[in-house]
Amino acid sequence: MGSVCSNYLNNFSMKNILITGGAGFIGSHVVRLFVNKYPEYRIINLDALTYAGNLANLKDIEDKTNYTFVKADICDFDKMCSLMQEYDIDGVIHLAAESHVDRSIKDPFTFARTNVMGTLSLLQAARQHWNGNWEGKRFYHISTDEVYGALELDKPEGSAPYGSEFFLETTKYNPHSPYSASKAGSDHFVRAYHDTYGMPTLVTNCSNNYGPYQFPEKLIPLFINNIRHGKPLPVYGKGENVRDWLYVVDHARAIDVIFHQGKTGDTYNIGGFNEWKNIDIVKVVIKTVDRLLGNPEGTSEKLITYVTDRAGHDLRYAIDSTKLKNELGWEPSLQFEEGIEKTVRWYLDNQEWMDNITSGVYEKYYEDMYKNR
Ligand code: NAD
Ligand code: DAU
Repeated sequence: MGSVCSNYLNNFSMKNILITGGAGFIGSHVVRLFVNKYPEYRIINLDALTYAGNLANLKDIEDKTNYTFVKADICDFDKMCSLMQEYDIDGVIHLAAESHVDRSIKDPFTFARTNVMGTLSLLQAARQHWNGNWEGKRFYHISTDEVYGALELDKPEGSAPYGSEFFLETTKYNPHSPYSASKAGSDHFVRAYHDTYGMPTLVTNCSNNYGPYQFPEKLIPLFINNIRHGKPLPVYGKGENVRDWLYVVDHARAIDVIFHQGKTGDTYNIGGFNEWKNIDIVKVVIKTVDRLLGNPEGTSEKLITYVTDRAGHDLRYAIDSTKLKNELGWEPSLQFEEGIEKTVRWYLDNQEWMDNITSGVYEKYYEDMYKNR
């Protein structure tokens, strides 16, 4: 196994940080946090602006002097090499990915291309640029709990936790969807670059995120928007699947802590011990939206429509993030009730953001993405 110069990063030695996927949901929160918190860093946001990338997510920080946006595809290896040199990149926080499970079922090739080949392209470009001098360098790959597979629902009644097992950092990978298989492939490449070349890498596996700026193909923003328009709420199967939800700003805070203090070569799970059955979270969302819109309680429950289940739908995800808490002191800052209230309010207060996506622009991106494949 290759050796790594320093396990813990000296903040002040790092100047130029490349954040990939910064125009997406989680990436935009990470870019915002880093640009505002670290004026001494230069933050380069690299994003291909696929259908999921939206520069409107970053309007509040786009004029900051320590922020630069570059439109590029991580699969373009020559471009990755030239950008590494041009900006003399010290650290990479890699979030760019195809992220939606349903799309991966329709179009697995795009997921293999971006998530596996794109990550490899970035790794190799970083390796060439750093040329064996790992001091003060860091390649941090953002992954998902979905790589671990699905847990049993062996305590389905009552409140969470809904099973006796949790995903640990040591849980064997067992991905089921093309999305999670592609993320697993990328995680393996990142670890291989650490073990083979000594690259100072970090991998984190996080649970479901929710919050502002999430693309409305994902459960929570899709349902908030559909309630607003009186449209059906398509619950897959019986709504019994369990997901573990974390407010996106808490994920960004964890990324900050791990990027600066995480032990290189290591893996950390990120989650808030916050399991919900889909049907229960849908009811919370309905209740909150109805209340904030001034509708009588329960008005929108009639919109719930049970539809054909997602193929290979993982039953339960539940992250154990004890290692992160014990080693680096991170804990979520928000209780779920507060987080969902903030989230629903944000979507209702930012209807223009949503309408710009749903009023045809979304369809256009979708067509553009698929027409040549
Ligand atoms: P997202 O789909 O909202 O954003 C992805 C971003 O990547 C977009 O801005 C898109 O334009 C960009 N992108 C896609 N392909 C690209 C390419 N080839 N080159 C450059 N940029 C490209 O995704 P998200 O939900 O913000 O997820 C970000 C990362 O976090 C992903 O790696 C995802 O696997 C991981 N993750 C997400 C969650 C979640 O709940 N959303 C949970 C755990 C981990
Ligand atoms: O667990 C982390 C993962 O969470 C991330 O890696 C993914 O990038 C992210 O998309 C998310 O994946 P999920 O598939 O869990 O998220 P999604 O919002 O698509 O679905 C959440 C649950 O709700 C899931 O069990 C499927 C269900 N669902 C989803 C949609 C969009 C429905 O019942 N109806 C829907 O219309």
